[in-house]
Amino acid sequence: MTNDSATHPPAPADTTFLPGPVLLLGAPGVGKGTQAKLLMAEYGIPQISTGDILRANIANGTALGKVAKSLMDQGQLVSDDLVNQMVAERLAEPDTHRGYILDGYPRTINQALWVDNHLAAASTALPVVAISILVDYKKLLHRITGRRISPAGRIYNIYTSPPAVPGICDVDGSILVQRPDDSEEVFAERMKTFEAQTAPVVEHYRNPGRFQEVNGDLPVEAVTVAINAALHKLRQT
Ligand code: AP5
Repeated sequence: MTNDSATHPPAPADTTFLPGPVLLLGAPGVGKGTQAKLLMAEYGIPQISTGDILRANIANGTALGKVAKSLMDQGQLVSDDLVNQMVAERLAEPDTHRGYILDGYPRTINQALWVDNHLAAASTALPVVAISILVDYKKLLHRITGRRISPAGRIYNIYTSPPAVPGICDVDGSILVQRPDDSEEVFAERMKTFEAQTAPVVEHYRNPGRFQEVNGDLPVEAVTVAINAALHKLRQT
């Protein structure tokens, strides 16, 4: 299975606070990927995005990518067994020892139970905490249809964070594309999938010492400040 090298962390800017394993939960387009990349840069821990790993498998034509593509294009979830196995392999890599940000995982109760067991068995130094980001449907639709990504997974938005040259990545000059699942029709299916299968996961983690909700309907920097405040609060309890 392949992974996006852009999700491996650079040297940490903040070595005084270690957030440990963090689950970023929320509907399609709330800003999980945007915020995970910022937290990765700040704390030097990797972003593990199951969506990015699956897209890398599709781009590389792997067997997993072939199975995943049609499900993703229809707004359905890839099977728990395949995704859990993918996450197990990624968590075994050495860069996860200081912590990591799980972006878009777990997404079903079975995945949540699997990761809870996995983390209990691994006896990590810091317990896992969950941050749920909230944004309303209409704004999510606007964000999703305006999103453009680079092949390396850098995220832009034609309305709120456009590249300097339209259609071109500021960092590596690659051509930006729209994800096949970012149409209005597939977004509606993804939201139905979220309500049916992932909303119960948010409830599963709703426990005072391990869970915080954050308003995602603010400028990107303000959401980052709110997430950092939530992480510090959780680590004090
Ligand atoms: P995945 O890639 O995980 O998609 P998702 O969860 O639907 O989330 P998105 O990537 O769409 O949004 P995001 O919250 O990361 O928002 P972003 O930061 O990009 O999954 C895709 C598919 O893969 C699934 O449908 C499923 O098929 C499969 N899959 C993945 N994980 C799976 C799992 N665990 N189990 C089974 N199947 C799985 O931001 C969105 C846009 O908004 C961007 O343009 C950004 O620039 C903009 N933006 C971000 N923040 C702000 C802000 N504060 N203000 C204004 N604009 C903002």
